[in-house]
Amino acid sequence: MSSIKVNVDEGVFNKAFIPYLDCMSRIQLFYGGAASGKSVFLAQRDIIDVMKGGRNFLICRQVGRTLRGSVIQELVKVISEWGLNNLFSVNKTDGTITCNNGYQIIFAGLDDVEKLKSLTPAKGVFTDIRVEEATETERSSIKQLLKRQRGGDEKTAKRLTLSFNPIIQDHWIYKDYFSPIGWADSQKEYNTPELFILKTTYLDNRFLTKDDIHDLESETDEYFKNVYTLGLWGVLGNVIFKNWIVEDLSEMQDQFVNRRNGLDFGFSSDPAALFVSHYNKSKKTIYIFDELYERGLTNDILAGEVKRIVENDLVICDSAEPKSIAELRQHGVNARGAKKGKDSVDHGIQWLQQQKIIIDTKCINTQNEFRQYKWKEDSRGNAMRIPVDFNNHLIDAGRYAYEADMVNVSIGGKAKVGNYIQ
Ligand SMILES: Nc1ncnc2c1ncn2[C@@H]1O[C@H](COP(=O)(O)OP(=O)(O)O)[C@@H](O)[C@H]1O
Ligand SMILES: [Mg+2]
Repeated sequence: MSSIKVNVDEGVFNKAFIPYLDCMSRIQLFYGGAASGKSVFLAQRDIIDVMKGGRNFLICRQVGRTLRGSVIQELVKVISEWGLNNLFSVNKTDGTITCNNGYQIIFAGLDDVEKLKSLTPAKGVFTDIRVEEATETERSSIKQLLKRQRGGDEKTAKRLTLSFNPIIQDHWIYKDYFSPIGWADSQKEYNTPELFILKTTYLDNRFLTKDDIHDLESETDEYFKNVYTLGLWGVLGNVIFKNWIVEDLSEMQDQFVNRRNGLDFGFSSDPAALFVSHYNKSKKTIYIFDELYERGLTNDILAGEVKRIVENDLVICDSAEPKSIAELRQHGVNARGAKKGKDSVDHGIQWLQQQKIIIDTKCINTQNEFRQYKWKEDSRGNAMRIPVDFNNHLIDAGRYAYEADMVNVSIGGKAKVGNYIQ
């Protein structure tokens, strides 16, 4: 038996998504505000389609390890809530969900190129590829996935589905898919055989609690309200860093001997963030050539990851967590606490603004933070000299990394060096 009869009550879905259960457009973009129900709907659709048979799914995120805590869990939840446990076998370690009909959903990180290449479903091909939080990915990774779907059975439609928040209009996803069709931000839907776009917001999700809704509606920052509450493409006014560019630095790694590394701790809501760079002091140029940006890492696993990337190089860490620093040291990381001190944020920002910063193409999270880091605004939209304390984990790590270089450098402005050395 390859097709299982599927009979799902409409009440399990959010209405906005129901018309697209059978959408077969080649590229599908489900985007919009936070908590609009995108991920849950796509998980529901995956389960239905795999049961119908004839379709296999490859589900990706940029960092493989983040799949288990997020997307895999969402699919497993749909299976158990719909009472389908007897029809599926779930192997969380390998990242595979196999339906009794032989069709599969397989999970992989785009960071594991070798695994990705070797993955094939037990029968047939990956008709569907889905990428969650697609703004974390590079254009080239997505093009590679599209290429991968070429050939095979021509009768079965292939789909590539991306879901994401519209973090910034400079993003390649906007340039490649929204600009060419003249997308207007007031639009909700675009639907052709080649490209499908659906914008949803929290208003489309009737399963949210009053508290969830209150949180979203009480957002006061204009940028965050636009992006995460209203699902509009982010446009930044008062960005802090404009002195950076993106380049492919992969061929230059051997020259990167003057390392500056920094680490900001995080676990559940904030990620642990490792900033890895080379400093050309005479040219005042910072080359950021690697990063780690991940939630849910215990200190022993974090230590392993940090060592893999920086080996024995010094890593300046957030001194607010001395216990974590001690644990990293026990695991062989050459970790040291940052000195910080009064005005160190202000001073650090000013110093970084005076460097030339080059970010490697693969460091997507670093790019996203540099793109979005902005000054707080007053009610008239004027910049105040206070950075918005959000999405600044890698940037904080970068300040720690360069702490010693900033000392004794007089940079004028509000922050005084004397305030900085405590
Ligand atoms: N169809 C649904 N049934 C039950 N709860 C849902 C459904 N869709 C969304 N939710 C609830 O809303 C939350 C946010 O939905 P989610 O799909 O994660 O949003 P998004 O991916 O758009 O940020 C989920 O964690 C879940 O609690
Ligand atoms: Mg989601």
